[in-house]
Amino acid sequence: MRPVAVHQWSPTGYITMTSPKDSIEKSPRSLDQALRPDSWKEYVGQETIKENLRILLTAAKGRQQQPEHVLLYGPPGLGKTTLAHLMAKEIGASLRSTSGPAIERVGDLAAILTNLSPGDVLFIDEIHRLNRTIEEILYPAMESGVLDIVIGKGPSARTVQLDLPPFTLIAATTRISMLSAPLRSRFSGGTFRLNYYTDPEIAEILSRSAKILNIEADKESVHEISKRSRATPRTANYLLKRARDFAEVNETTLDLKTVRKALALLEIDEGGLNQTDRDILSLIVEKFRGGPVGLKTIAASLSEEDATIEEVNEPYLLQLGLIERTPRGRTVTPKGYEHIGVDAPRAQGSML
Ligand SMILES: Nc1ncnc2c1ncn2[C@@H]1O[C@H](COP(=O)(O)OP(=O)(O)OP(=O)(O)O)[C@@H](O)[C@H]1O
Ligand SMILES: [Mg+2]
Repeated sequence: MRPVAVHQWSPTGYITMTSPKDSIEKSPRSLDQALRPDSWKEYVGQETIKENLRILLTAAKGRQQQPEHVLLYGPPGLGKTTLAHLMAKEIGASLRSTSGPAIERVGDLAAILTNLSPGDVLFIDEIHRLNRTIEEILYPAMESGVLDIVIGKGPSARTVQLDLPPFTLIAATTRISMLSAPLRSRFSGGTFRLNYYTDPEIAEILSRSAKILNIEADKESVHEISKRSRATPRTANYLLKRARDFAEVNETTLDLKTVRKALALLEIDEGGLNQTDRDILSLIVEKFRGGPVGLKTIAASLSEEDATIEEVNEPYLLQLGLIERTPRGRTVTPKGYEHIGVDAPRAQGSML
């Protein structure tokens, strides 16, 4: 079993796993940690989710009860892990983090659950990767706070029940469709889908990050980066850091011209599409006459993982209306044709 990371909150942030502030510039990990919002105020957007969580947590606190379990889902980099940290902080609990792939055997989960302290928040990232046998152990733990352990084998096997300390499970996934219905139904505190961010929200996140990283970026540069950030905070922060590198290495200021050059070098276009996004559009148009074509075929043709295309590329292309998902596969829309500079066929239906 891989270790469970414990994050303890202090008024200034995490106690464990945090390097001193003066080493922020040295380690990429602490750089990312420094950019992670530390308070609800710093967590931009997702207003409806924040309000729902505020009510859930405040009501539970008022009744001196443990908040119920919550499931967060949505594409990578939209702030699921960050929300889990903020929720734990809100109720003054320790956050114990693990992930689906790290829990390989029933004993791994049993060890995690029995080591919880009363009131802890258990965060399971990538929960869609838990296997079914482990899910079966999780159900009674979530529902009735007990751990069913089978001792022995064959006819002499018997089940022992252990009482668990009260805990709140916060789970995150990029692939809600892979979660079984019984598991989904156990998140009695709510299931929340994180949405893509608007340009002004991304610009606000970037301005805050620029301040933390001591980067002087004018409004136009921030606007340009936000437009190309795939509406995703993690991508926005990544592009800001890369643009800063570009400016420093070329001994120039971080202005609009520099940002454009840096992003061109990274092959990020005006709409925030990267080379793989554009390859997907071109492939469907050129090899499959605009579609429909299945995801597996797209992935195999581009030598990419199905999961990456499904979790990272496809949601953004759908969001921009460049492709459509039909029961028979993916098709490129007229807007998608336009994006890659190809004339769309007049009646796509007649070509199928
Ligand atoms: N609402 C937000 N406001 C400000 N910054 C944010 C917000 N959401 C995310 N970020 C920034 O983006 C980074 C990535 O967010 P986070 O790790 O929470 O995403 P995630 O949804 O858990 O991604 P993954 O699915 O890959 O685990 C954070 O460290 C933080 O810097
Ligand atoms: Mg995460």
